[in-house]
Amino acid sequence: MAYEGGASTGTPVTDWANDWDWLDDQWGENAIEIWTGLHRDGVSVAMTERYGRAFMPLTMEAVRQVANDTDSFSSIYVSVARPDAVRRPAPPITSDPPEHKDHRRLLLPAFSPNQIAPMEKEMRDFCRGLIAEIGDATEADAAEQYAQHIPVHAICQMVGIPESDADLFRDWIYRTFQVAPRDNAERERLFIEMTAYWEALIADRIANPRDDLATVVANAEIDGRLAPIEIRRGYLSLLLVAGIDTTWSAIGSGLWHLASHPEHLAYLAALESDDDPRWEFALEEVLRFYSPVTMGRKVINDTEVSGCPMRAGEQTLVTFPAANHDPAAFESAHEFQIDREQNRHVAFGVGIHRCLGSNLARLELKIAIQEWVRAFPDYRLNPDRPTTWANGQVRGPRQLPVVIHRRA
Ligand code: HEM
Repeated sequence: MAYEGGASTGTPVTDWANDWDWLDDQWGENAIEIWTGLHRDGVSVAMTERYGRAFMPLTMEAVRQVANDTDSFSSIYVSVARPDAVRRPAPPITSDPPEHKDHRRLLLPAFSPNQIAPMEKEMRDFCRGLIAEIGDATEADAAEQYAQHIPVHAICQMVGIPESDADLFRDWIYRTFQVAPRDNAERERLFIEMTAYWEALIADRIANPRDDLATVVANAEIDGRLAPIEIRRGYLSLLLVAGIDTTWSAIGSGLWHLASHPEHLAYLAALESDDDPRWEFALEEVLRFYSPVTMGRKVINDTEVSGCPMRAGEQTLVTFPAANHDPAAFESAHEFQIDREQNRHVAFGVGIHRCLGSNLARLELKIAIQEWVRAFPDYRLNPDRPTTWANGQVRGPRQLPVVIHRRA
């Protein structure tokens, strides 16, 4: 399904320090400028009442405090939504200690470097296939024809779900992040659709086991007994939702950056080896600068973050991308430095929930950008067709029209 633009129905934000809204139409395209402005104004924690009382920490110190303090901040809410929204388990991301450890342990082996590295060759072939489909065209959409397909392919391969349902999965993701946070009826519709799909898949894998992650999840045990069905469904929902538009957004942001910074494109196109360490510096800077994922937490004990009191029952973002622009944490934080070597960014989170899929995401990002730059060493944004950006929890380009000036 094509991305249909932001889902904002609230009044437009004019005061980001006291009335922020991550579904506002300005967020997708301008979040970096918004955080930069708030940093410049010395705001450590911004506020809103749009989802009940909710916070947006902006500094590395504040974001680390929220992510590390699992006694005060629960992952039972992983996004900021209407306070009356029904929240359902998708562990490990929605679980707290002590349960979190067992959920994470179940999925961990599938994401180890040993499991991920062998995917490289097939993934390169897949990217080359997408590029071949663009053929001799002088215009293309780098999100719709390229970036969006790569993570779906990787997740489908790994979990064992059919790639022919890719449009359905992208539709679920769009509605999960852009519509459901303020529309409970939409959340329920999604729940019904996803439940039916996952239960059929789980039943199939129990009857017909395969060598895939879906079979592991279908048979998952907790304390020696088959895990409740809502937990097994939750694992599958998480793998899909966490694995697709996160990486699609990172790839799209990297391609957008290179299309609008020809000097950086030329720098990467001139690198002779895929293993040149300058690739790694450049891609880590893409992750820092454009980090796509913002999470949420429920405040469960009265506490204080950077002088801002937070009360039990309220909600907060864990604004990893804003922390990555904190001038106190990075030299020239608001500049994209393609050769930045010291880069302790938090795009993949911090603490016990740090991204399980980071090895996979890094491999996809590297292969996707290398193959594109090799094929199209000179391309620019299409001046006649604007880029569209997704708002909210996972921010990135959804339509990215480009003009190809030169191909290899
Ligand atoms: C560039 C791409 C990605 C980014 C920026 C990203 C970012 C994040 C972040 C910030 C968290 C921390 C959540 C929190 O603190 O609440 C997280 C957790 C997680 N990510 Fe990713 N992610 C990416 C790709 C992936 C991929 C490809 C997968 C594969 C399915 C994945 C699976 C997960 C899982 C399972 C967790 C939960 C870990 C836990 O709760 O212990 N991610 N990710």
